[in-house]
Amino acid sequence: MNLSVNFCGIDFPNPTVVASGYLGVTGASLANCVNSGCGGVTAKSLFMEERPGHPNPTVLTYPGGIINAVGLCGEGIKEAKHEFEVYRKKCPNNPMIGSVAGKNIKELVEVTEIMNTYPVDIIELNFSCPNVDDEMGTPIACDPLMTAEATKAIRAVTKKPISVKLSPNVSNIGLIAKHAEEAGADAITAINTVGPGMLIDIFMRKPILANKVGGVGGMGIKPIAIRCVYDIYKNVKIPIIATGGIIKGTDAIEIMMAGGSLLGIGSAIAAYDMKAFEMITEKIRTFMEEEGFSDISDLVGLAHQA
Ligand SMILES: Cc1cc2nc3c(=O)[nH]c(=O)nc-3n(C[C@H](O)[C@H](O)[C@H](O)COP(=O)(O)O)c2cc1C
Repeated sequence: MNLSVNFCGIDFPNPTVVASGYLGVTGASLANCVNSGCGGVTAKSLFMEERPGHPNPTVLTYPGGIINAVGLCGEGIKEAKHEFEVYRKKCPNNPMIGSVAGKNIKELVEVTEIMNTYPVDIIELNFSCPNVDDEMGTPIACDPLMTAEATKAIRAVTKKPISVKLSPNVSNIGLIAKHAEEAGADAITAINTVGPGMLIDIFMRKPILANKVGGVGGMGIKPIAIRCVYDIYKNVKIPIIATGGIIKGTDAIEIMMAGGSLLGIGSAIAAYDMKAFEMITEKIRTFMEEEGFSDISDLVGLAHQA
């Protein structure tokens, strides 16, 4: 039974990949995920300079999922270099995806130029964070032409595979994916968080997040993620890192049938901690055995036959 995935020429031993932001950029904590069974990792998005992010509280879980307004906090790309080297040394056989962000296209290009020199296998372009609008305006991924322009500019500075991370908060995600593909993207990551959303503390009579609004992830967004991946798969030939609301192995199988080749694992970590990766991979393995599949790639896009 083959559970390995060749994605943009890079071999992943299984399809589970830590989603950006869930475990920071620390090489040791990302390596810990590999020891617990994930196929590869995505580091948190990095800007050129250190960012404090939004004030606390920034992350809340609730019965339907998880809402966050972390605000893309973290060290700058240059300070984070060591973490990529630590990870690479500890996990030579498990691919690493570096995620780049920027206040504008110029910064995105500059951060990518630096990321290009780091030991990452794929560079993910975070065009889609929904909780920094106040500072940065509407995310690039909400506009097809901006998505094309930014992808093209970044394509010019790296030969590593690039995956454009898209937002579900648009009316036609398939069209935006097509613009990314035509501008030179090798892959699409979908989706980033939905919203923004808001929760209110009824006793304090005010929004719970200090930023008032945050991006929504987790169980409740699974149908949106599946529909987005389905629409993207219909519109492009490049492969997809399917992300959003994957908690259990059956969620993973569903989103692969919609068109995902790799699985961005985020909220499953919040639900099951480090056990998430093996649980999901094991469920896929059992399903394949029971249903007579020998190669995981045969699951990808199956729901399009109907
Ligand atoms: C606390 C937190 C931080 C995140 N940080 C990033 C980030 O830095 N870059 C990024 O591209 N996505 C980030 N995301 C979005 C996730 O990678 C993912 O796309 C989204 O949460 C949907 O997956 P989920 O339903 O499994 O949470 C973050 C999500 C959460 C909850």
